[in-house]
Amino acid sequence: MAQHAHIVGTGSSMPERILFNKDLEEIVDTNDEWIVRRSGIRERRISSKVREESTTDLATQASARALEMAGVSPGELDMIVVGTVTPDRQFPSTGCMVQEALKAEKAAAFDVSAGCSGFLYALTMVNNAIRCGTCGTALVVGVERLSSIINWDDRGTCVLLADGAGAAVVRSVPEEGGILSSHLRSDGTLWELLYSADGSSRTPAILHDINIRPFHLRMDGNPLFRRAIGCMSEIAREALGHNSLSGEDISLVVPHQANIRIIQGLANNLRIPMEKVYTNIERYGNTSSATIPIALDEANRKGLLKKGDHVLLVTFGAGLTWGASILEWSM
Ligand code: COA
Repeated sequence: MAQHAHIVGTGSSMPERILFNKDLEEIVDTNDEWIVRRSGIRERRISSKVREESTTDLATQASARALEMAGVSPGELDMIVVGTVTPDRQFPSTGCMVQEALKAEKAAAFDVSAGCSGFLYALTMVNNAIRCGTCGTALVVGVERLSSIINWDDRGTCVLLADGAGAAVVRSVPEEGGILSSHLRSDGTLWELLYSADGSSRTPAILHDINIRPFHLRMDGNPLFRRAIGCMSEIAREALGHNSLSGEDISLVVPHQANIRIIQGLANNLRIPMEKVYTNIERYGNTSSATIPIALDEANRKGLLKKGDHVLLVTFGAGLTWGASILEWSM
């Protein structure tokens, strides 16, 4: 019998500390008015070194909340897939660290590196595994501690990026619905628009130029901005067309939260009113692969999603990578 992948629980976890735009005025040459007008961000969460807010901690807390909502015990998980570009360590994977923390003994665990598209890529891997019959119950996580790779001297990026985690429990179910389809794209020729400058095998630590500050994120924001709207609109249209749906059939769009103007441009292109687009960028900034699962969890807990609703997830990020997925909500 054909199996379908349904989201049966969501969870999220945010660091306690709030960094306001005013606080950033003390660090770089910026101001609240510019940040709000150009990005839509008013505040963001930054993890602490002393509290339990590492990538693994945030991912584990978000996962525990999603499992609790789903009524699934960690021992039932067959697979844990984590989208992240800021793991606690290069290896082992964050997936394995979460597996240990949750005591999910029988799960296969690994990470997916797809920039801000990490969660959607991970969700697609799980959807495929469930449809193939190789996985019954899975945990999909998007988590970032971008504060660890931000260049705090670069006003073009440090005002945008932040930390957080979101998770979803996905189950194999015979009923139709759940994840209807996923559509993924990449363009590696444009990797230099957004990348981590170092901290890899390419430049062994001993050879570091002292002027290169390791792990710092570099971004060419303006060309990314223009491509983001076009790529997200195109892939969303592909996902809608694949399912014979139009923008009017979508109850809620849960987009990657990189910039409110990107989200507005996407909504405009799809002719979907902003009232049907979930945004929380104002409070959390851009948490990369975590934005979509955090927003999905908030929308779910606020009761904005009803059984049978069509939900459009759409993303764009480093790689470049982008993608869209349509869900028929079944909780
Ligand atoms: N405060 C004040 N001024 C700033 C600033 C800040 N934090 N950051 C940049 N500026 C300045 C620039 O130096 C530039 O000044 P100049 O004209 O004197 O050179 C001016 O503002 C305009 O910069 P620009 O980069 O053209 O602005 P923008 O309208 O493109 O907005 C971003 C900048 C980063 C907000 C926007 O490009 C963006 O959101 N990009 C996409 C991010 C993204 O999608 N990332 C990938 C997916 S996660």
